[in-house]
This record gives sequence, C-alpha cells and structure tokens, in this order.
Amino acid sequence: MRDYLKWHEAYDDPASDLSWRLRQVQAYIRSTLDQIQGKATVLSLCAGDGRDVLQVLAERHDTSRIQTTLIELHPVLAERARKFAASSRLLNVTVRTVDAGNTTAYVGAVPADLVIMIGVLGNISDDDVRRTIRTAPQLCRPGAIMLWSRATSGSDANSSVRGWLAGAGFVELDYREFDQAEGERAALGSARYDGPPQPLIPGRQIFTF
Ligand SMILES: C[S@@+](CC[C@H](N)C(=O)[O-])C[C@H]1O[C@@H](n2cnc3c(N)ncnc32)[C@H](O)[C@@H]1O
Repeated sequence: MRDYLKWHEAYDDPASDLSWRLRQVQAYIRSTLDQIQGKATVLSLCAGDGRDVLQVLAERHDTSRIQTTLIELHPVLAERARKFAASSRLLNVTVRTVDAGNTTAYVGAVPADLVIMIGVLGNISDDDVRRTIRTAPQLCRPGAIMLWSRATSGSDANSSVRGWLAGAGFVELDYREFDQAEGERAALGSARYDGPPQPLIPGRQIFTF
C-alpha cells in the first residue's frame, strides 16, 4: 500500500487539490448534518485521519445526536482520529481499525444517513468500483446522502461511475471537478440513495486497495 502518512501531508498546502476537496467535502457534511432532523448516523470508509468529518463535528453543538463510525486500516491514522475525537470531546465517534473492503467492517454501523466514500474509488479496480457501488445501498438508509470522489483526467467526467451510481438507486445531487487546466484533477460527487432498504450481508469482499 502507498505511504498514507505522507499522502496526508498534501493537506498542509491550502492550494493543493486535496485541500480543495477537503473544503468541498466539509461543506457537504455540514449541510447534510443540518438537514437531518434528530438522530443521525455517519459512516466514513477508508477515513484516513478522519479530518473531514471530525473537524466539522468539532465545530458543532449537536453532536450528541450524531453517531459516527470511521473505518481506517492504518493504525497510526486510526489512532490520530481517535485522539482528535477525544481531545474535541466527541463522545459518539468510533474508529474501527479493520478492512473497509470487507462488509463485516460495517456490522452495527449501518444503515447510515451520511456515507463518506472519499479517496476510495480512485484507488481500486473498475470491477471493485462497480461492486462497491452495487453494495453501497447496504450502507445507506433510504434518503441517505453519499459523498464520493475519484480523480479524473477531465475528459471522462467520471461518467461511468455516475452511471453505475444511478443504476444502484442513487440520484445525483452534485458533481464537481477541481478547476485545473491540465493533468489529473480531483472530482467529487454527492448523491442521495432513493432505493429500498437493503440489509447488510457481512463477509463479502467488495474491494482491495
Ligand atoms: C486516499 S486516502 C483517503 C483518506 C481520507 N478518506 C481522506 O480523504 O482524507 C485512503 C485511505 O484508505 C486507507 N485504506 C487503505 N486500504 C484500506 C482498507 N482496506 N480498509 C480501510 N482503510 C484502508 C488508507 O490507509 C488511507 O488512509
């Protein structure tokens, strides 16, 4: 696997595409949490140090109604997330150091109202992307918002991913790309799951990094 400790250092540069993505993701997270009335369940897959959701939660005064589960395999990053949550007094945050590619990771944490799938789809094969999207309804409560990202060359605008999401029952709410003239650029989307409830089937391998 890549050195994901080093990878996180790109967040130190506010002009990086990663920092651009973080700002967009946090804006989506804020507005989604504002829209949910009452209890909310949040799930982040391959969460890294969890800064996207944890920084947003740390700004809020209603976190007692929000249950958050982060799945992150790297023990140092997972521990950073736990430490940040503890120092910000976020009591309802759980970090599981397990393989997010296996559906057993999600037992007891789904269906979620907000699923954060950021930094996942661009790191796995197309077959795994398709399988992950087909399985995503098992993670989502009907009406849930799912945030996803996948860098693009700019010419494909992630059309296949967006089509697979539509086929799995997701309605696109937003899609945007980092405004950069050349090369690969960050892109992300927001979609609402409008399909029926789907029970989680544990023990299935849906992707491998
Ligand atoms: C591209 S980073 C994205 C991190 C975070 N979502 C973000 O956007 O800042 C991918 C993350 O997935 C983690 N990861 C890789 N394979 C994983 C697996 N099988 N299960 C859980 N986490 C995994 C890596 O350690 C890394 O932190």
